[in-house]
Amino acid sequence: MDTSSIRIKEDRLRQDLLDLGRFGEMASGGIGRTALSDADLEARRWFKERMREGGLKVREDAAANIIGRMDPPSGPNEEPCIATGSHIDAVAQGGKYDGALGICAGLEALRAIRESGVSLPCSCELLVFTDEEGSHFAGTFGSRAMFNLLQEGEMEKSRGAGMASLAKDLKRMGKDPQKIAEARRSPSEFQAFLELHIEQGPVLEEMEVPIGIVDGIVHLGRYLIRVIGKSGHAGTIPMHLRDDALIKAAGIVTAVNEAVRSAGPEIVGTIGEFRVQPGAINIIPGQVEMSLDLRSMNEEKLTSVKRQIEKIVLSAEKAGMETVLTKGGVRMDPDVMMADELSCRERGIPFHRMGSGAGHDAMTFPMVNIPAGIIFIPCVGGKSHCPDEEIRFEDACRGAQVLADTMVRLAFRGPLHPLP
Ligand code: GLV
Ligand code: MN
Ligand code: MN
Repeated sequence: MDTSSIRIKEDRLRQDLLDLGRFGEMASGGIGRTALSDADLEARRWFKERMREGGLKVREDAAANIIGRMDPPSGPNEEPCIATGSHIDAVAQGGKYDGALGICAGLEALRAIRESGVSLPCSCELLVFTDEEGSHFAGTFGSRAMFNLLQEGEMEKSRGAGMASLAKDLKRMGKDPQKIAEARRSPSEFQAFLELHIEQGPVLEEMEVPIGIVDGIVHLGRYLIRVIGKSGHAGTIPMHLRDDALIKAAGIVTAVNEAVRSAGPEIVGTIGEFRVQPGAINIIPGQVEMSLDLRSMNEEKLTSVKRQIEKIVLSAEKAGMETVLTKGGVRMDPDVMMADELSCRERGIPFHRMGSGAGHDAMTFPMVNIPAGIIFIPCVGGKSHCPDEEIRFEDACRGAQVLADTMVRLAFRGPLHPLP
């Protein structure tokens, strides 16, 4: 397959990334653009316009996913499409490229394919998924809604007291959460899904390799730990008569950290959210809620550490732990990885096969038997989920080129696996 006529325009991609980075930009240089926040809604409006300018037919589904379609020059047909995409939302105080790279590069890839004059045998889609980061409740909301993988009641839940649920924020933008099933699509509509993403870690930069080809994503467990105490006046209740939820929670935090560390390097665990209620200087904490995120390539290890943590939590008085979300690790499709490799070889771009400790919407696709692949580019200093997240635009350009070439390569191969 000759892909030499497909040329990514670095200036255009850079401009889109810089423009998108202004929505929700904070004084620190990072981004405050959690899913369906005002900044996110503005960014989405802007990006839909860019997609239309790029010649895509744009629609939004019941889960607020944005779908841009480019039909083949011969006109629409029923062939399963080749899709790419990522997310436009960011973590609180996040960076400008997590997710943003995948959607801007996806748009640039489609523009470059169109401009090359290559006549594809099927349509291509650019998918911008809603709430990949899980700022409402659980992550990869949009891609899971697309393939009927949401948990019962999930849309009505929120990350903590006083925080909005997805149902509430979907209503705020004029959507009916009762109609979420309308977002569902059949896996047979897709030949393959490809996501370009920043690595979010230091491996590629250290190796001085510009492209990572992801072979698998970790198993992930997310939990909510709640500790109940008794609130009361901070000045009048003697220390020995208190039931302070924060003091009990502090013991749990330390014990959980110790349990994960002593389980060895194969597993990581993070308590990243911590809410103290009522949360005032002169009130004894009555309740603490905290998140726990556990990840490992080794599922048995994850299960055994989770059991150990449950014991720790339950040994504290009036403390409990509930599962928010579990995602089995996934293997990326061997044929898609091979197509990525071919694209790199043909352009003379060094690559490295590697695992991903971060979750991505691309992990939803193998769950419904759609072949999927992820291409990484390095991020400066391995930093991500922080305002310092940075990339080099020449890496972004190389990544977008590999993405475009691979989409074309896959389109001409036809369905990679027999469709049901
Ligand atoms: C998504 O960014 C994740 O938490 O891995
Ligand atoms: Mn992220
Ligand atoms: Mn991401």
